[in-house]
Amino acid sequence: MCGIVGYIGNKKAQPILTSGLRRLEYRGYDSAGIVTLGDKQATLLRAKGKVAELVAFADGNATDDTIGIGHTRWATHGVPAENNAHPHQAGDIYLVHNGIIENYKELKATLTNHTFKSETDSEVLAALIDSFYTADATLESAVIQALQLVEGTYGIAVISTREPDQVIVARMGSPLIIGVGEGDLVIASDASALIGHTTNAIYLNDGEMAICTREGVTLEDLEAQPLTAKVEQIEADMSAIQKQGYDHFLLKEIMEQPTTLRSTLNGRVVPSEYRAQLGGLNMTNDELRDVDHVVIIGCGTAYYAGLLASYYLEQLVDGLTIDVEIASELRYRSFNLPKNSVALVVSQSGETADTLACLREIKRRGVRTLGVINAVGSTIAREVDGGVYVHAGPEISVASTKAFTSQVAAMTIFGLQLAQTKGTGAKELSEYINELAELPDEIEQVLGDVREEVKAVAEKYAHYEHGLFLGRDTLFPVALEGALKLKEISYIQAEGYAGGELKHGPLALIDDRFFEVMLLQDNWLFDKSISNLAEVNARGGHVLAITNSNKDIDAEEVIRIKTKLDLLAPLVLNVVQQLFAYYVAVARGNDVDQPRNLAKSVTVE
Ligand code: F6R
Repeated sequence: MCGIVGYIGNKKAQPILTSGLRRLEYRGYDSAGIVTLGDKQATLLRAKGKVAELVAFADGNATDDTIGIGHTRWATHGVPAENNAHPHQAGDIYLVHNGIIENYKELKATLTNHTFKSETDSEVLAALIDSFYTADATLESAVIQALQLVEGTYGIAVISTREPDQVIVARMGSPLIIGVGEGDLVIASDASALIGHTTNAIYLNDGEMAICTREGVTLEDLEAQPLTAKVEQIEADMSAIQKQGYDHFLLKEIMEQPTTLRSTLNGRVVPSEYRAQLGGLNMTNDELRDVDHVVIIGCGTAYYAGLLASYYLEQLVDGLTIDVEIASELRYRSFNLPKNSVALVVSQSGETADTLACLREIKRRGVRTLGVINAVGSTIAREVDGGVYVHAGPEISVASTKAFTSQVAAMTIFGLQLAQTKGTGAKELSEYINELAELPDEIEQVLGDVREEVKAVAEKYAHYEHGLFLGRDTLFPVALEGALKLKEISYIQAEGYAGGELKHGPLALIDDRFFEVMLLQDNWLFDKSISNLAEVNARGGHVLAITNSNKDIDAEEVIRIKTKLDLLAPLVLNVVQQLFAYYVAVARGNDVDQPRNLAKSVTVE
């Protein structure tokens, strides 16, 4: 949430900053700003709205400055407006900030010499640093003194017209990376902004600060004690962050699932050897055998992926108990974890604040944590005891799609590995292994078969303001995910429900303002689901059925998919609803990649 960039070197800073902000725009798009330093003079440019507005402004105010910082904002304190846009100025200093300063009101009350121009907590931090930036102080000492008074989270970059040859960055809870180029440094809140500049990067940890100059990086803690900077290689694939001919990143990310899923499965699922195994768990077979309980933690789509995977894990591993928890809830509960638990920490970005807080609490209790993470080098990935990267590649669209499919697949492999190590359920294991191996081809086939049909149906349903997604068993978490996808990009109010729960309340909703998506799988629950469908029809519903069945289905619209999968068919049905949500949002004229009020990578609570 919020994107930070910075540059110091010998090239013109403005275009580097604005192109970095374009890459980071998915982290927030309420306003954007940059400031560069020339000879004792700063050029501050800020604009409400998307980075394109800022770029238009910057085109008419170009400078040759070779140092600067920039920010794209997701509003926390104060409405989206130019005065609330970063960078914030206080005296000689300029600051960009990602995170929340929790004690900003108390601090603000003490800063009586500063005239506040914004409603933000970030300007308070700028003013606080400035209050310590007396004539004999350095920017470094002022930043350290200020940060010692701050409660909350931050990733910051600070520059000063008085010391125009350095960018100071610090981190507590909000990610920051320093890309080390040839004679220059690029600072960013995520690695996508470094692609094309360098593949060498220093990841800051919480409580670390770096002084970035043209000579290099000096790393220290918040008491100015020196630390050793470790330069790591980042994966850099320019094509992965481009639309590649698609109208939107979201469509590209839906359509590339066969490929991304193959990367998830690669080397991990080998049907010919009857093997499914994850490297990187850092657990011995004895330790795996001892696992009696799994707790899965995530937010939003990652939580729903955990919910679906829990159905698979409990089928796969005899006697295993599983809880799936919403991270933002769990972190404040006085929860208990049974002995011999393992926590699966699921996150696409690897930066979600609530998920990270749970991870730290669970680790503090001495329970082993395993990451199911997409973003390589992210904070959660670095802090877990072991785990896997799902290798779905960068997700640029704010709505998560390909990560869901890969997360479920990775957790299913974990279940298989656990079952194989414990020696349970031989028949079902081979079915799962075969279905996992076939899943990419099945998804590819279905995406090709139904795309045009889904588009036409979506256009028909796009005028509704309310939707109900219904499914049973493994299709229940899929219904929850379908509703989330639709609501976040189409702004249609959508609910996911277990089909069997209809008569316990939701049936009261059905009228002509509602449509219903009924997920139907041709299995032992088919007839029961058909009864649920009949209950909706009897009340004048407008049902779209999405199914793998050839049987008669009495619904307004039926989208049928052909798949030979059974256990994993819900994942195939899910890609159909992803397409449906996409085309509904397009038909409504929405900005599908950057839906209103949202941002990717939720690094604040
Ligand atoms: C929904 C969506 C969000 C994320 C959630 C968790 O499409 O994108 O619900 O799934 O914010 O994010 P990660 O997986 O990055 O922890």
